Amino acid sequence: MAHGVLWTVLGLLLWTELGTASLPLVMDSVIQALVELEQKAPVMEASRGASAQSLPTKDSNPHNPLHHFLLGAPSLKAVKLVPHSLSPQLQDLINRVTQHDVRGGQEYGVVLAPDGSTVAVKPLLAGLEAGLQGRRAVNLSLASQATPWDTGDTLPGLRDASPDVTSPNVRTVLPNDKAKPPTTVDSILAVTLAGDLGLTFLQSPQTQSHPGLGTEGCWDQVSVPQTFTLLNPKASMVTMAFLNGALDGALLGDHLSQIPEPRPPFSQLLSQYYGAGVSGDPEFRSNFRRQKGAALTSVSDLTQQVWGTLILLQRLEPGHPQLQNMTQEQLAQVASHATKEFTEAFLECPAIHPRCRWGAAPYKGRPTPLQLPLGFLYVHHTYVPASPCTTFARCAANMRSMQRFHQDTQGWDDIGYSFVVGSDGYVYEGRGWHRMGAHTRGRNSRGFGVAFVGNYTATLPTEAALRTVRDELPSCALRAGLLRPDYKVLGHRQLVHTDCPGDALFGLLRTWPHFTETES
Ligand SMILES: *[C@@H]1O[C@H](CO)[C@@H](O)[C@H](O)[C@H]1NC(C)=O
Ligand SMILES: *[C@@H]1O[C@H](CO)[C@@H](O)[C@H](O)[C@H]1NC(C)=O
Ligand SMILES: *[C@@H]1O[C@H](CO)[C@@H](O)[C@H](O)[C@H]1NC(C)=O
Repeated sequence: MAHGVLWTVLGLLLWTELGTASLPLVMDSVIQALVELEQKAPVMEASRGASAQSLPTKDSNPHNPLHHFLLGAPSLKAVKLVPHSLSPQLQDLINRVTQHDVRGGQEYGVVLAPDGSTVAVKPLLAGLEAGLQGRRAVNLSLASQATPWDTGDTLPGLRDASPDVTSPNVRTVLPNDKAKPPTTVDSILAVTLAGDLGLTFLQSPQTQSHPGLGTEGCWDQVSVPQTFTLLNPKASMVTMAFLNGALDGALLGDHLSQIPEPRPPFSQLLSQYYGAGVSGDPEFRSNFRRQKGAALTSVSDLTQQVWGTLILLQRLEPGHPQLQNMTQEQLAQVASHATKEFTEAFLECPAIHPRCRWGAAPYKGRPTPLQLPLGFLYVHHTYVPASPCTTFARCAANMRSMQRFHQDTQGWDDIGYSFVVGSDGYVYEGRGWHRMGAHTRGRNSRGFGVAFVGNYTATLPTEAALRTVRDELPSCALRAGLLRPDYKVLGHRQLVHTDCPGDALFGLLRTWPHFTETES
C-alpha cells in the first residue's frame, strides 16, 4: 500500500493545478496528504497492475537517471487515478514540496518540521521508497548495461555495503591511488545523499572551501510558513534543509527496510519520527538525526558510496558535462572531499537554530564585532527558566522570554548569551559567533558565553546536551577558525560573583578537557 502511495506522490508532479489556497509548508501538511492518499490507496493498488517498472513510464525526475535506475519510475496509471480524488489544496502542496530547488535566494520543496528544523521532502521520499524496496547493493559492473532492476543481494546492513573498506574507524584514510574502487552502491544512500553530495562537489572541484554546504534559511513566519529565504544567497543545492531531508530519508529508509511486512503507513512513520519533543538522550527522532546518521555510516563507507554513485552516474549518463572525462581517481578525490565536508561540517557539528527560527527581536543598537578566533568558552546555566526545555516550541519561547528580559528589564542590546543549549537536541543562536555578548562581565570580548537551559544546582543536563557543549560546539568552532586550538573552558562563577552554572554542573565541568582553574 505504501508503495503505491509513494508512486502517486512522485507521480503527482505531472499534475499542476494553480490558483488554490495554499496549506502551510509544515511536515504536518505532508503527513495529512499521505493520510488521505493512504485511505485511497487500496483502490489505486488494485488498478495498478503487477509492478511499477513494467508500466509505461514518464519519468518524474527527467534529470535524475539515478532515481530512475535505482528506484524505477512511477506508474502513470496509478497517477491518473488519484489526483482528482485529492483535495486541490493537498495536490497543490504535493506539487510544491516534491521538487527541490534553490533559486533567487529562495529554497523550494522544503517544509518546517515540529522540531524546528527545515526538511527537503524529495530526498526524504526517495529514502522511504528505497527502503520499501529493501536495502539493495547494486552491482556496478552490471550497471554499465544500464538495465534497471538488475539488482544484487539485499544487504543485511549499510555498513556491509562496501566490502572494500578495511578500516572504517580511521577517519583520515580516504580513497587514494591505492584504494580499490567500489563494486556496489547502496540504493538507499545513493538516492538520498551520495548522488547529490557528489554532484555538488563535482561542480566546484577547484575550491577547497565547501560550496555553501549546510546553508540555513528563514521562514516568512513560523506559524503558517510559505516561503523560505536562504541566509546565504550563494548557497549550493546541499543546503541545511537538503541535508536534513537526505539524512532523514536514509535513516527512515534503513528503518523501513528492517520492518517486516505489513509495513506501517508512511504517515505513521513520519508522525513518530517528527513527533514534537524528546525525553532525553538520542532517540529515533529528527532531533537527533546527526547522531543517528553518524551511527548509520562511517566516513570511509560513505566515501565509497559517493565514489560508487558518481561512477554509476557516469555510466548511466555518458554525456554528463561534468562527469564526462573524469577518471576514477578524480571521482575518488571528489568523493573524499565531499564526505569529509559533510562529516566534519554537518554530521559532527551541533544543529543550531538560527535567530529567525526562534523569533528573535532585532538587535538594539550597533553590535560590536568580535576579533576571532577567541580563546575562551564560558559555561552558564539559565537558572530561570529552571526546567530544561525538551520541545522546539518550549525552547523557542524560553529564548524569546530571556531576550525580552535582557533587552527590556536589563536594558541590554540583545539576549546576553552567544548560544543557548536546549534538551531537545538543538543549540539556539543568541548573539552568535560574530557579535560580542553580555554574559561574563569583563570578559565578553575574550570568549563565547554558552548557557544550558535549566537550573543545574542539583541536577545535570542530559548527556546529549553536555556532549554538545563539551565536544561538538568547540570542535566545530575550532575547525571554522572561530575558537583557538588552545581554548580554555571556565564556569561563570570563576570570573563573577555568582553560583552559575550551578554546583552540580560546575562539579562536572571541572573534569572536562580544556577546563582551567585560572584564566592565564
Ligand atoms: C557483479 O557482476 C559481475 C558480472 O556479472 C560479476 O562478475 C561480479 O562478481 C559481480 N560483483 C558483485 C560484487 O556482485
Ligand atoms: C571529453 O573528451 C572528448 C574526447 O577527447 C572531447 O571531445 C570532449 O570535448 C571532452 N569533454 C569535456 C567536457 O571536456
Ligand atoms: C534551583 O535548584 C535548587 C536546588 O534544587 C533550588 O534550591 C532552587 O530553588 C532552584 N531555583 C529555581 C529558580 O528554581
